[in-house]
Amino acid sequence: MTGPAPDNPLHDGLRIEPTPGPTTLVIFGASGDLTRRKLLPAIYHLSRRGRLPAQFAVVGIARSVMTDEEFRQQFRESLKEFASANAAADAVAASLADRMYFVSGETSDAGLYQQLATKLNEIDGAEGVLFYLAIPPTVYASVIQNLGAVGLAQPPERGWRRIIVEKPFGTDLASARELNHIAHQHFSEDQVFRIDHYLGKETVQNLLVFRFGNGMFEPVWNRRYIDHVQITAAETVGVEHRASYYEGAGALRDMVQNHLMQVLALVAMEPPIAFTADSVRDRKMDALLAVQPLTNDGEKPPAVVRAQYRQGWVNGAEVPGYLDEKGVDPKSKTDTFVAARMYLDNWRWAGVPFYVRTGKRLPKRTTEIAIQFRRPPLEIFRRASQTPVAPDLLIVNVQPDEGISLRFEAKLPGTRMQIAPVMMNFRYGTTFGGEVPEAYETLLLDAMLGDTTLFARHDFVEASWALITPVLDAWHAHADEPIPTYEAGEWGPVEADRLIEQDTRGWRTL
Ligand code: BG6
Repeated sequence: MTGPAPDNPLHDGLRIEPTPGPTTLVIFGASGDLTRRKLLPAIYHLSRRGRLPAQFAVVGIARSVMTDEEFRQQFRESLKEFASANAAADAVAASLADRMYFVSGETSDAGLYQQLATKLNEIDGAEGVLFYLAIPPTVYASVIQNLGAVGLAQPPERGWRRIIVEKPFGTDLASARELNHIAHQHFSEDQVFRIDHYLGKETVQNLLVFRFGNGMFEPVWNRRYIDHVQITAAETVGVEHRASYYEGAGALRDMVQNHLMQVLALVAMEPPIAFTADSVRDRKMDALLAVQPLTNDGEKPPAVVRAQYRQGWVNGAEVPGYLDEKGVDPKSKTDTFVAARMYLDNWRWAGVPFYVRTGKRLPKRTTEIAIQFRRPPLEIFRRASQTPVAPDLLIVNVQPDEGISLRFEAKLPGTRMQIAPVMMNFRYGTTFGGEVPEAYETLLLDAMLGDTTLFARHDFVEASWALITPVLDAWHAHADEPIPTYEAGEWGPVEADRLIEQDTRGWRTL
């Protein structure tokens, strides 16, 4: 990782950054993909930035039998693969590795938790313990109950106990409620950190700053000035090696219920009174509760389109259709694409559609929020413009090219009055230099600091499932109908185009 440019005063270092007290991170699922790809590199980067306490340790837990040394080796390898090339050889990595331990066992075995408790007693730095559930969702409940049963959920007199639960948090409303119920039997809400990595993305957080740290945008952020909002999360990857999970999930559960509803809530929420966990999450909750139901009485959801990719071409390579992916049922109806129109019943947004779409095997990896403003009330330059005057547009590029752009009309240079749209761009990379931290770094650090602002609260997760579950039920009730398809490398099915064209609008070309 390259460090920040030392002469850029806009970069880090001007703020006083809080550092957590002594912490031990206990990772369930320590030999899994998430740990290797995201968690271990995030710890390394946090340590390089000086954001970890001196007394920091990691206890990895997994079924596989490994010595501490083998676990440390896995850490070095994961840095080699997923962090910067020399990470494995540097002093920061070496000192972190010295404080990594491994406990092997079955998560269903009560003895494992006794062993863990003993291990934590031996480690100095275990005043604060952060459990991380990087394991299949089917075992979340049993791990939580087992931790509770041996007293590990109970904070000691001087210290804390917290738990990060990965997504998916439940698979429908009933299961999410049940999981919340079990979590609350052992942990209080402020100990539970339901992770949604979209909330850790810099640009998603910046949305709050953009809206509430400036005076000029909020007054126009409403139905009077905004025509509609489009939120797109497009991926080029297919289902990869995750068919066993994805088959039971699909795009609606995998992306919309969590990431896209979180983003929508941040776009739509009222201003919080302070940047505190309760205030921010209360206002997000209000926004979510205002979303109109997507379907009634088991009817097919009129404004939700699902589809599945067929064989096609992405980034110049031929790729198989979803049904030919490894581990996928050849008759599967799992959605790999979803587009939806949502309305919010509140004063700010009444009548303003929010269009969301997400899919795998789309032409381009990009996530953005586009706010399209209304056209000027009077088009006095109609004659001067070769094409119809484009409405003003604000684009928040969440990834990969993080930034914010504003499109507006300008006069073309010359003696004639001709107008054309131009862009005003703010780019994270060029403005601040250095690298934008990974979402997992931000979120792990927040959890160590006990800050729940960027995590999903129990009621948000349930309200989001309450919105999505009837759609899943309706699809299930119509399971005999074929699912629309799209060619890999296209922007979804024609049904998605029709959905927005019905409103005399179009998806943005990305
Ligand atoms: C995960 C989903 O939550 O988010 C994946 O399970 C998806 O299917 C991923 O690929 C997208 O995350 P990002 O950060 O690449 O946009």
